Amino acid sequence: MAPQPLWLRCEKKEFECRSALTPTTAKKLIDAGFVVTVERDPQRIFDDEEFEKVGCTLVDNNSWPTAPVTAPIIGLKELPVSTEPIKHTHIQFAHCYKNQAGWSDILARFDAGGGTLYDLEFLTDATGRRVAAFGFHAGFAGAAAGALALAEQRNGKDLQALEPFQNEIAMVAAVKEKLTKSGGGRSVRALVIGALGRCGRGAVDLFRKIGLDEDNIVKWDMDETAKGGPFREILDVDIFVNCIYLAHKIPHFLTRSIIDEAGSSRRLSVIVDVSCDTTNPNNPIPLYSINTTFDKPTVPVPVVEGNPPLNVISIDHLPTLLPREASEQFSADLLPSLLQLPQRSTARVWTDAEALFKNKLVEAREDLKQRS
Ligand SMILES: NC(=O)c1ccc[n+]([C@@H]2O[C@H](COP(=O)([O-])OP(=O)(O)OC[C@H]3O[C@@H](n4cnc5c(N)ncnc54)[C@H](O)[C@@H]3O)[C@@H](O)[C@H]2O)c1
Repeated sequence: MAPQPLWLRCEKKEFECRSALTPTTAKKLIDAGFVVTVERDPQRIFDDEEFEKVGCTLVDNNSWPTAPVTAPIIGLKELPVSTEPIKHTHIQFAHCYKNQAGWSDILARFDAGGGTLYDLEFLTDATGRRVAAFGFHAGFAGAAAGALALAEQRNGKDLQALEPFQNEIAMVAAVKEKLTKSGGGRSVRALVIGALGRCGRGAVDLFRKIGLDEDNIVKWDMDETAKGGPFREILDVDIFVNCIYLAHKIPHFLTRSIIDEAGSSRRLSVIVDVSCDTTNPNNPIPLYSINTTFDKPTVPVPVVEGNPPLNVISIDHLPTLLPREASEQFSADLLPSLLQLPQRSTARVWTDAEALFKNKLVEAREDLKQRS
């Protein structure tokens, strides 16, 4: 049998330096008989040479459209917007299965070219749990960004551009220093909703590591939100980190009116929306309409004059603040599924993902018909 090809494409999303494959996992695939091709990518946290050293074939940046159609293309984030038909199999986060903006146009490209999408968000194990996710580092980095934003806000400033940290130790030290200089960290109160999930656990871990009192880390999950929002309790913490997995419409967690009603006594200063369901019509935090970026990490919520400022961080690629660790963990978790690619016509993880893709194609065709 011919060896299994796999093609690691470059990332075109600004500031994305994580990678779906790392030199460590690429080596394990090669050892298992894969032929791994890697596009040169100056923005990736791993140097091209690190891949070359373990036996990958290096090719030009963004050359995947010329790859043999037998080679699945693996990447992380969305492809640039285009109407060009897609003929390859892509393994990536495409953000088009939950009615996000432009979802049916993305799927139409696969339909037109005969390609297949295996969406990384929907690769699951036999119990329905995702095989690989960046959640923990997203929550960890999001909470860090929230604490940094709070420190700046205490000084009457907005959080300036964020840059990836070398490692977790450096991130924790930087956050602690900023908070201490701005008036101390111990008294900071934070609320994490979705605290039992991957992102939520990461956020709680960061708050512990920067020294918040355990009593000041409020942890909510399904039980605590069961009564239905909006929740005035959220206004009584400094930082609110939303980490829920939004599966269906739920009552809003916060609204402009309860924020306005709280007046100048509102404590809530920073919202970190790790879940980032920004364009999802069911976003439970309907206070902002854009994803923020590392360049400009916060967006203000308009508040009544005289009331304290309120900023939202809605960065949808937070783990990139810890790119090496986040990539290594994600890629290691994905590896057992990748090793099953040669059997993808029978291996459950891939057949389930393909069935879902086909269902979504049908929905996209219907949507496009209605819009035309
Ligand atoms: N911004 C980023 O960079 C980034 C990165 C990774 C993941 N995410 C997103 O973060 C979200 C969470 O991902 P995860 O891997 O942590 O999911 P997860 O399934 O591990 O955890 C989600 C948690 O939310 C809880 N939850 C769901 N609905 C809730 C509700 N109404 N009230 C309270 N709790 C509720 C669940 O019980 C669970 O504990 C996803 O939408 C994911 O796409 C964002």
